[in-house]
Amino acid sequence: MTALYDDPDFLSGYRELRRSGRGLNEDLEIPAMNALLSPGGRGDELRVADLGCGEGELALRLASAGASVVAIDASAAMLSRTTEHPQIRYLQEDLARLDLPASSLDLVVSSLALHYVEDFIGLVSRVAHWLVPGGRFVFSVEHPVITAPRDAADLLVDDYADEGPRQRTWFVDHVVKYHRTTGSTVETLLGQGFTIEALREPQPTRAQVASKPHLAIHRRRPPILLIAARLVSPRRTGPP
Ligand SMILES: C[S@@+](CC[C@H](N)C(=O)[O-])C[C@H]1O[C@@H](n2cnc3c(N)ncnc32)[C@H](O)[C@@H]1O
Repeated sequence: MTALYDDPDFLSGYRELRRSGRGLNEDLEIPAMNALLSPGGRGDELRVADLGCGEGELALRLASAGASVVAIDASAAMLSRTTEHPQIRYLQEDLARLDLPASSLDLVVSSLALHYVEDFIGLVSRVAHWLVPGGRFVFSVEHPVITAPRDAADLLVDDYADEGPRQRTWFVDHVVKYHRTTGSTVETLLGQGFTIEALREPQPTRAQVASKPHLAIHRRRPPILLIAARLVSPRRTGPP
């Protein structure tokens, strides 16, 4: 399990980034996620799991729209900042060990957390087990062109085919993220019985860059990847 988000040095850097609005969330990730979750998927009476919920903003948006949400995160510090809501149950658990009842969910969401998970095939196979047939899995991750290089040179895509852990300095040293190619992410979903409904690589518009120049770099290469997948029938096989 990651203790990363419980590390005070990391956490103060991360919270300052979120507070400053210079992260990717407000400008790119949240609008793209909302677009994939609507219409009809943003809340209603859906039974939802939010994997790596952090401070619970997405869980709260979904619950406010009528969903019943189980919101999971490994970090006590992140969970300590969540907002109580009668339709949200927060759970401190490592996604590597998370176990939920079979066919108990209509929607599984995850924002910018799954690149911390080593065993993606295992996780997708459990998500397929938790969802009802026709249920959706909608998630965002750091884009594979960002996670690929072993040495985190700013714009250089390298080592793309070599999947696995990458160490980065992000507020603190030795932050571990897991690189997976776009192809293997998609093949894993197909192999576990999902169809792909959407694959998005949101990048800022020229107007956004004009008003927020720090976003310019994200027109040079995509910073995040979002996928919306729908469970047709769970399978036991992994990708080739
Ligand atoms: C970048 S934050 C995103 C938080 C939230 N989803 C959001 O978009 O604001 C990543 C979150 O994933 C959580 N996380 C990372 N690895 C995890 C794991 N193995 N099990 C559970 N949570 C994990 C972290 O604690 C952190 O809260």
